[in-house]
Amino acid sequence: MRLGVIGGTGSAQLFGPGEVLALEPGPWGPVSAPLQRHRFGHAEVLFLARHGAPAGPTIPPHRINYRANLWAFRELGVDQVLGINAVGGITPPATPGRLVIPDQLIDYTWGREHTFTGNEVFPLQHVDFTQPFTRSLRDCLLAAGKASGLDLVPAGTYGATQGPRLETAAEIDRLERDGCDVVGMTAMPEAVLARELNIAYAICCVVVNRAAGRNPGGESIHAEIAASLGTGMADVKRLVMGMLAAH
Ligand code: HPA
Repeated sequence: MRLGVIGGTGSAQLFGPGEVLALEPGPWGPVSAPLQRHRFGHAEVLFLARHGAPAGPTIPPHRINYRANLWAFRELGVDQVLGINAVGGITPPATPGRLVIPDQLIDYTWGREHTFTGNEVFPLQHVDFTQPFTRSLRDCLLAAGKASGLDLVPAGTYGATQGPRLETAAEIDRLERDGCDVVGMTAMPEAVLARELNIAYAICCVVVNRAAGRNPGGESIHAEIAASLGTGMADVKRLVMGMLAAH
């Protein structure tokens, strides 16, 4: 298996240092960080830190060059990409520490470069986005979760907000009425750009806090994130390694 992985908050060092790949600059500007190659037996992971290299400044969600990042995978001939996303949990199954494999999303972001099309490089295209995540890749994740004994939430709707601020309680109420189970800031436009390039794409969300207004005990969101990020990411690593071992 040859898998692209885009690691978000807390996962920039998921696989440790790898072989840094030299890439020609593409038409969309610079990638978030150098891509790194990791080999695990017959499997290969090409890893990209979404918010930038751990040593550098953190790129906020609305400034990430999603187009350059996805384009780099295409240039390397990678045809399946897994995104790893720290999220807030809205509905009861999405409790801190759990992993969620969403099957739907709602996009609340704005002002981001969200398409490759409609310019001199790509003609206008209206991609089918009925199912925003690729079924076969989600199935691999779910099977690996089962085999690894992880208690995954097997479906759900991801609400993509603009950030970088967290939401108000009323905004989270609205997201819940809309049908969102988790909230994060980076799955869009990443998912649709992958679709435009015909790259299979799915995400593994790590619930790191209860979303705004969903914490009756009043513990701060940042304290929750600090408490659950480490264990959640260890489970993500188990999941990805399980998936690689099975393919
Ligand atoms: N809201 C939006 N994005 C997030 C959150 C949240 O509560 N937690 C982690 N990423």
